[in-house]
Amino acid sequence: MLRYNRYFMRKKITVVGGGNVGASAAVNLASKELGDVVLVDVVEGVPLGKGLDMLQAGPIEGYDVQVAGANDYAPTANSDVVVITAGLARKPGMSRDDLLLANYEVVKGVTENIAKHSPNAILVLVTNPLDAMCTVAHHVSKFPKHRVVGMAGVLDSARFRTFIARELNVSVENVTAVVLGGHGDTMVPVVRLSSVSGIPLTELIEPARLEAIVDRTRNGGAEIVKYLKTGSAYYAPSSAAVEMVESILKDKKKVLACAALLEGEYGIHGLFVGVPVKLGANGIEKIYEIKLNADEKAALAKSASAVQELIDVLKPKMAQATA
Ligand SMILES: NC(=O)c1ccc[n+]([C@@H]2O[C@H](COP(=O)([O-])OP(=O)(O)OC[C@H]3O[C@@H](n4cnc5c(N)ncnc54)[C@H](O)[C@@H]3O)[C@@H](O)[C@H]2O)c1
Repeated sequence: MLRYNRYFMRKKITVVGGGNVGASAAVNLASKELGDVVLVDVVEGVPLGKGLDMLQAGPIEGYDVQVAGANDYAPTANSDVVVITAGLARKPGMSRDDLLLANYEVVKGVTENIAKHSPNAILVLVTNPLDAMCTVAHHVSKFPKHRVVGMAGVLDSARFRTFIARELNVSVENVTAVVLGGHGDTMVPVVRLSSVSGIPLTELIEPARLEAIVDRTRNGGAEIVKYLKTGSAYYAPSSAAVEMVESILKDKKKVLACAALLEGEYGIHGLFVGVPVKLGANGIEKIYEIKLNADEKAALAKSASAVQELIDVLKPKMAQATA
């Protein structure tokens, strides 16, 4: 049981969903000492066991924060940041879209509990289909849009950066990449704005090869699902979520590709779509609207319409839930 008193200044982070992504995120958050961590899952006992196990790694790893698991939301009260990973993971042959209706119910229930116990939290969504689940969390929580953000672009750009670094045999640290759009096969890696220490990618990699790398990035999740057979990627996804939490809790104001609610930016209205944002203590502090060329605009519009299709499926359910 976590005990808090008013002199206790550490931040509190809840991770909902203690499966592959959630448990990896929780241990990563603890090892970076970003705050005390509460891991919540519906499976009886499992988050409590995992939480205790993570706590006991502290003396060895040298981290000194509280980690606890729970099957209910009381211990999550007044969290500063909540990472939502609860839901089903994609199985082979299953598209992200297949998950839509099942994960709608999960994210709706989780968000209701979180909004009740942590009304001032910033929500970091991970559950797929990501952009649609951000809409659900925003709708259910009624939190202002700057406090609901989705993790996808950080992961997608990490994959893109990895492939580019391997192609050129250079450090991943020198590779910056911009990825826009919804999380899925329609994502838009923007080659024109990606570089290696400022050197445009187009000067380093020939177009056909670049196209193959873009394609591999778009299918980065499916490539891993194919190997794992049961379950999907979780090391890089959890690292990506933790980078976002770190930027928020340390008010680093990193500029990261995240799913944000657009209200006119990029000509998109009322949809969560991946764009570069500034992430700080207030959540999304700025959305960067970069000038796109005609091809990029068309690709982003296509990606946004794929997100819109999912929202159209959910709309009757969300309206019913509000009524
Ligand atoms: N956005 C991204 O880039 C990205 C990347 C990887 C995974 N994901 C998504 O993240 C989610 C989790 O993936 P995973 O690999 O950890 O799956 P997982 O199956 O290992 O874990 C999911 C956990 O959620 C729990 N859960 C289910 N319903 C719940 C509820 N109502 N309340 C609390 N917990 C609940 C399950 O018991 C399980 O432990 C999936 O939807 C997956 O598709 C997204």
